[in-house]
Amino acid sequence: MNVRGRLLRWYRRHKREMPWRETRDPYAIWVSEIMLQQTRVETVIPFYHRFLERFPTVEALARAKESDVLARWSGLGYYRRAKNLRAAAAVVAREHGGRVPSSIDALLELPGIGPYTAAAIASIAYGVPAAAVDGNVIRVIARWEGLEGSRDDARLRREVTARAEALAPGPDPGDWTQALMELGATICLPREPLCERCPVAGACVARASGRPDRFPDRGRTAAVRVERRVLLLLRRRSRVLLVPDPLDGGATLAPPSAIVTNGRSAARVARALGRAHGAAGDPLGPTRTFRHQTYSHDYTIEVWEADAARDGSAGVDPREGSRWSALADLPRLPLRATTLKALGR
Ligand code: ADE
Repeated sequence: MNVRGRLLRWYRRHKREMPWRETRDPYAIWVSEIMLQQTRVETVIPFYHRFLERFPTVEALARAKESDVLARWSGLGYYRRAKNLRAAAAVVAREHGGRVPSSIDALLELPGIGPYTAAAIASIAYGVPAAAVDGNVIRVIARWEGLEGSRDDARLRREVTARAEALAPGPDPGDWTQALMELGATICLPREPLCERCPVAGACVARASGRPDRFPDRGRTAAVRVERRVLLLLRRRSRVLLVPDPLDGGATLAPPSAIVTNGRSAARVARALGRAHGAAGDPLGPTRTFRHQTYSHDYTIEVWEADAARDGSAGVDPREGSRWSALADLPRLPLRATTLKALGR
């Protein structure tokens, strides 16, 4: 049996259960692929169920208010994905009669769908032979073929893509796409690949070299920016002030916050925030401190608290999306998981 056949057989025996592997609905598969961008499988599963329960069809999503869609996405992160998904559903409803397109070109026209996601949807939902190449697949194929170069190198990506496209045609393109992903996620691990359990180890150049972990060269990882922020919990009776969150370009709401630049004290930053938003006195804090790490940033967030001046609505400009929200309403608002943590939820 060739490597394609061996890997497919392994996948069918060992694949992990995932809800999107139980459906043939292209819309549900599309939703799963968007949620899986930059997000782990275990994190996605509950969100996938809740989202499809609320928006079971393309039409339902196309008709939904953006704030409702963001609320269902709340906690999953990278909120632009939710905005794009809803906008794309409107295009599919209008221009494709509600049917998710099956061609790569038509998929690529939709907001939020790049080459990787287009290939994943086309192959998994429609059986179109297509190569979905992401970091995992680059690692798997670079090892198989012994391709040299850094994982971020455009030349390596081109070589891997050419090889992946050559392997794509054949039976069960959807299983093939997911078999490559599965191998990368469970066996062909970045640092300590489990070659003894790999169905294609016998054909692997990196394995034969004795140091499979050296492929591909991990290169220099981009520096993570370290940032300290003060977040002001400003209360008016049972309400708190929320503003569009600068940490994700305003896609979600969060209490006002500001960077503590080198040399300034957090108390000073908190006082300035309090003045700008109409606090009655100097904020107290920090009442809580926590870390929030993303691919690009490592935030340390200090929570400071203050009451609003009785007459004060300073700093609350509904045109800019700021508002006083009742604590009881928070579950219905688009808030990131870390923001909920900051609010003590
Ligand atoms: N990552 C992206 N798409 C995936 C899928 N269909 N199954 C598992 N992991 C994935």
